[in-house]
Amino acid sequence: MRITMIGTGYVGLVSGVCFSDFGHDVTCVDLSEEKVARLNAGEVPIYEPGLDSLMARNVAAGRLSFTTDLAAAVDGAEAVFIAVGTPSRRGDGHADLSYVMAAAEQVGRALTGYAVVVTKSTVPVGTNRAVAEAVRRAAPEAEFDVASNPEFLREGAAIDDFMKPDRVIVGVESERAAQVMAAVYRPLYLREFPVVTTDLESAELIKYAANAFLATKITFINEIAHLCERVGADVKEVARGIGLDGRIGNKFLHAGPGYGGSCFPKDTRALARIGQEAAVPQTITEAVIRANEATKARMVDKLRDLVGGRFNGKTVAVLGATFKPGTDDMRDSPSLTVVPALVGGGATVRVVDPQGRREGEDLLPGVTWHDDPYEAAAGADLVAILTAWNEFRALDLPRMAEAMATPRMADLRNVYAPDMLRDAGFEAVFVGRAPVERAADG
Ligand code: UGA
Repeated sequence: MRITMIGTGYVGLVSGVCFSDFGHDVTCVDLSEEKVARLNAGEVPIYEPGLDSLMARNVAAGRLSFTTDLAAAVDGAEAVFIAVGTPSRRGDGHADLSYVMAAAEQVGRALTGYAVVVTKSTVPVGTNRAVAEAVRRAAPEAEFDVASNPEFLREGAAIDDFMKPDRVIVGVESERAAQVMAAVYRPLYLREFPVVTTDLESAELIKYAANAFLATKITFINEIAHLCERVGADVKEVARGIGLDGRIGNKFLHAGPGYGGSCFPKDTRALARIGQEAAVPQTITEAVIRANEATKARMVDKLRDLVGGRFNGKTVAVLGATFKPGTDDMRDSPSLTVVPALVGGGATVRVVDPQGRREGEDLLPGVTWHDDPYEAAAGADLVAILTAWNEFRALDLPRMAEAMATPRMADLRNVYAPDMLRDAGFEAVFVGRAPVERAADG
């Protein structure tokens, strides 16, 4: 079947490539000439493990192409996906729908036969109806339906999440649209992944509710972690103890420096806004947003306390700048709170990140970038692990301690067992676990 994917950002590109791998004939459209030229040259503009080879394979097989010509791409397509960005609008936290609505209008003008206009971008409740109106305004005679098909892929695991989803959510209003969507996902049906076919509004809300729930789970364990530090409990033990209850589950209970990324911060803000506008305040989500900001700020205090109350004159090696491993994405990363506080406080900051440097150079002024964690730690007063990249999970701790001016570690992802750090001579703090005190002299 012929599919058009509008927008080659994260979700659009991964979805387009994966649909072509299902055997569909996919044309991806983007406004940016430069981006399309790069994609046509085989360049993948984002870092996502496995995406480059999957893209190359499907381009070579003639199933996947890239263009700026939206009208030509829509002509004859059975499903037209809108996967353009919905950034948080400045000021009010609302998702900015101008790209979605502009795309809907252009699709309307380009329709030549029946098609389903599918929104994959995360959009507030009611947007699919607005998309239908925009298409209708642009093409009063056109035969089409709309569908909501939110995406649940995680950066760094996106291809696997797409190919082996926990579920596929499809919001539709007509049987005809349901059938087109069934054909789109047929390769998955064969593998028996659950497909939830529902109404438009429920599909739209499922996406926000899922992300807000996950953000709540993380924030809950982060607050428990803070409490653990005060009362002498260990958050890893607590998370394990509660996670074994099948109703709670053990996933997304890793305490850390606060959630970040392109989804949780934006979607929690948008859900809070949707609730306010519907006069049904989402008080839990609102509290989660505030608590997450407090968690990030608390990390700065933790680091400051560890170096004796002042950053001034200290050298700090920051391991990890991206919001999580396996991505080059820096959006709302805890590093954007922690690193400027270090720099602002007068510390000399060295940053190591396997993928973050390209984006990070602009976002984190006043730091030096290093490839090697040992080089960054040489002569430093503190090593802070902000992102649990594999590269930072099996460090030679005695070697690192030896190279530092004062061996101190802020392990904000609880990567290392306290004993390992103690044995290597570190003074250390964690999130939700007892610190390792400085070894007595001699
Ligand atoms: C998230 C969801 O997990 C996806 O299901 C969803 O499709 C996606 O948003 C989206 O809306 O597009 P993503 O933002 O890529 O995916 O990353 P996650 O792996 O969910 O991590 C988000 C943040 O939570 C990271 O900062 C991570 O470090 C943090 N986190 C996650 C924790 O601090 N603790 C945990 O236990 C899990």
